[in-house]
Amino acid sequence: MKSILITGGAGFVGSSLAIDLRKRLPSARIIALDNLKRRGSELNLPRLRAAGIEFVHGDVRNPGDLEFIGPAEALIECSAEPSVLAGRDGSPAYVVNTNLIGTVNCLEWARRCGAGIVFLSTSRVYPIATLNHLSYRIDGDRFALDAVQSLPGASANGIGEAFPLDGPRSLYGATKLCSELLLQEYIDMYGIKGVVNRCGVIAGPWQMGKVDQGVVALWAARHVMGGALSYIGYGGRGHQVRDVLHIHDLAALVLHELEHLDALSGSTFNVGGGLECSASLAELTVLCREISGNEISIASDHANRPGDVPIYITDNATVTAATGWRPRKSTRDILTDVIRWIQENADTLRPILG
Ligand SMILES: NC(=O)c1ccc[n+]([C@@H]2O[C@H](COP(=O)([O-])OP(=O)(O)OC[C@H]3O[C@@H](n4cnc5c(N)ncnc54)[C@H](O)[C@@H]3O)[C@@H](O)[C@H]2O)c1
Repeated sequence: MKSILITGGAGFVGSSLAIDLRKRLPSARIIALDNLKRRGSELNLPRLRAAGIEFVHGDVRNPGDLEFIGPAEALIECSAEPSVLAGRDGSPAYVVNTNLIGTVNCLEWARRCGAGIVFLSTSRVYPIATLNHLSYRIDGDRFALDAVQSLPGASANGIGEAFPLDGPRSLYGATKLCSELLLQEYIDMYGIKGVVNRCGVIAGPWQMGKVDQGVVALWAARHVMGGALSYIGYGGRGHQVRDVLHIHDLAALVLHELEHLDALSGSTFNVGGGLECSASLAELTVLCREISGNEISIASDHANRPGDVPIYITDNATVTAATGWRPRKSTRDILTDVIRWIQENADTLRPILG
């Protein structure tokens, strides 16, 4: 692999993948394109520069910005408006134009230069109401999926790719699913190579966590820097559960996919920390207290937030069977890395995370 374009390359996932791939592919040309819309992405520019990654200030909504870069062998599509709440406060324009029209522009660029694509999608393609119909119970400080589930693709191990796709899922999830479908058509019609990763929660250092995206970094930051936190919805006790994937584990998978794109092309994988690397908010609090040494009070808000789900766990069975990949890092590893990063960069991060 001699040249790789990473769109959204100054964001959490894009910049982390760029820097990780630089170590694994020292002679490759790696280009990060980003419009710096996400607050805090600008903090990644010196890191990209220090790693010898080319930065292009560009916008996936503008096809000319992609043409400007010239051809590359591979594209990792990480640009996004990644909030599940996007569009609720006003216009859908930004989320649709970036997440869908932006993907079309990326696909066109890839078609013209013959680049293979690794597409970062989301577990949010699965409909909200259907996820809310999973059978679960309270198990200590968390919700746990029951062994018997009535929905296809669901089990105590989590959600597999056979989970039903009919129903509303947020504009974020819908634009990602539409993009997946278009990628499939480009693979079929134009013979480009591509893989889709439907990721659960990803976490690690350099994630600019906020209330509606990046909950692990937000939770850790509040424990280090202080500030308000609330358990929102589902009784307000912090029982809701997500699986969490360390960004380095994702990087290992993406590299494998780039190296085996011919064999894997057309695949859609659910990718996440899985049951073993999952936590409820209450469990996250315990880890944050232990690792940071700080205890903060957490408020309780019983009202469910629109679009929220009580539990999401990725079933990695398909991706593991196809690639041999499985996550290595635990929730404790992730929190340890994130808290150390915040402590070491507190002054720089305070305006964003504080
Ligand atoms: N972080 C997670 O937990 C998670 C989970 C599932 C899927 N994903 C997916 O991974 C990808 C990356 O997410 P992230 O967590 O790094 O988010 P992020 O917000 O940190 O990164 C996205 C980057 O895209 C940039 N961007 C936004 N609009 C753009 C545009 N029009 N043109 C160019 N750049 C633009 C932003 O400035 C930002 O730097 C997204 O596609 C997201 O849907 C992330």
